[in-house]
Amino acid sequence: MEYIKNKFFQVATRQAAEYINLRNNYSDVVLANITIGDVMSGMKGIPSLITDTSKLDAQEGIRYRGLSIPELQQKLPCICGEQEPLPEGLFYLMLIGEAPKMDDVRNLSKDWAIRSNVPQHVFDVIEALPKSARPMAQFSTAILSMATESFFQNAHRVGVHKKYYWDTIYEDVMNLIARLPRIAAYIYRRIYHNDNHIDPDPRLDWAANLAHMMGHNSNEVKRLLRLYMVIHADHEGGNITAHTAHLVASGLSNPYYAYAAAMLGLAGPLHGYANQDTINWLYDMIDELGTDEPAEKDITKYCRKTIREGRVIPGYGHAVLQKTDPRFTVQKDFADKYIKNDKMVNIVNTLYKVVPGILQATGKVRNPWPNVDAYSGVLLSHYGIKEHTFYTVLFGVSRALGVLAAMIHDRVYGFPIERPSSYPLQWYKDVAEGKITPKIK
Ligand SMILES: CC(C)(COP(=O)(O)OP(=O)(O)OC[C@H]1O[C@@H](n2cnc3c(N)ncnc32)[C@H](O)[C@@H]1OP(=O)(O)O)[C@@H](O)C(=O)NCCC(=O)NCCS
Repeated sequence: MEYIKNKFFQVATRQAAEYINLRNNYSDVVLANITIGDVMSGMKGIPSLITDTSKLDAQEGIRYRGLSIPELQQKLPCICGEQEPLPEGLFYLMLIGEAPKMDDVRNLSKDWAIRSNVPQHVFDVIEALPKSARPMAQFSTAILSMATESFFQNAHRVGVHKKYYWDTIYEDVMNLIARLPRIAAYIYRRIYHNDNHIDPDPRLDWAANLAHMMGHNSNEVKRLLRLYMVIHADHEGGNITAHTAHLVASGLSNPYYAYAAAMLGLAGPLHGYANQDTINWLYDMIDELGTDEPAEKDITKYCRKTIREGRVIPGYGHAVLQKTDPRFTVQKDFADKYIKNDKMVNIVNTLYKVVPGILQATGKVRNPWPNVDAYSGVLLSHYGIKEHTFYTVLFGVSRALGVLAAMIHDRVYGFPIERPSSYPLQWYKDVAEGKITPKIK
């Protein structure tokens, strides 16, 4: 779909000129004073990355190119009769910065269908791993093995001028996104459905095809996966997944390497694995309390016990957000609309009543409110996707949309290699005690 690529390039060229203007004429402008506290809190809040695809506001939550999730639901094209936007439209929005028309979305769906053929050796590599290997290990290995397909790698090898890098990065990104549903579904059917694989259906949209290949063909699951793919797609540039992808790609590693590395970051329990942790923790609670309809007071006791044991309550808290995550709210709205009387959903709703107060009472949790992971697992489980060790793979498929769109931007802008400074602990101590005055650039 060359017209999408051309349209992107027209917009991106203007943006790249802005970048060069800022870099050349305003590089002395001071953005922030950095304290020892900033460094020791994981560099939170320090403006140090450029990411156009989305921005996370601590109070409001995520906005993709300025649009909140409810606004996306209004402005992005949907399949006729459905209310959840197509993730293809979100990708277009994040890439180009304008809401697409239905034709753009259809064309993108078709383009990804054409690009979706996964080379046989990728399946062979997956097969070489034991089935017991974690789904995220299988997923990232498969992606890495697909780097044989990288056009960018070849372009770099033959000495293509760097101002054209974005072109082959674009091709790699589009191919990679197109193939992710097939790879994810293959791993899913391999591990949980006895290798009984399902061929793709090129007539379906990207998310619906994923549902289909996983063996979940109902309209409800397709609708849920469209929602899921949209709300997990991006969370500005500083989260572990996006930052890893950006960092690795800044060394001109190809998109397959950079995205595989990002997936290994997503696999951590404080990040994407929290969607599995949440559901594990809920099942442990049900086991320990001996009922799947626990009373509010027993849920409260269980939460307090989790804290006493020095563990976190998964699905609560966030490094940036200070309010209930709108990605939680939109899933709650979905459950309120489509699901009546699911016992796990009821527990999640009770947790929403009790957990914030419990976390606030610890006096140390900056954000006691739920995040996206507090709800996603119970929705998937309700609709029959009960294999919760797979949930982080679904998150990973979705997150490709944002981080890979941003990777194309990175090369249009021509961002430099990323290289922040580090100092020994003693240096910070010496600065704190006034023995050294740090050189302010
Ligand atoms: C997301 C998360 C990693 C953010 O971490 P953070 O920015 O360091 O959060 P805070 O500054 O609020 O942490 C301050 C303290 O509160 C604790 N805390 C934060 N969230 C907590 C939670 N959900 N349950 C219990 N304690 C929590 C932290 O562990 C930390 O304790 P410490 O000082 O003893 O180390 C954290 O809230 C968390 O672990 N949540 C649960 C996992 C999760 O849902 N991750 C998915 C995020 S989308």
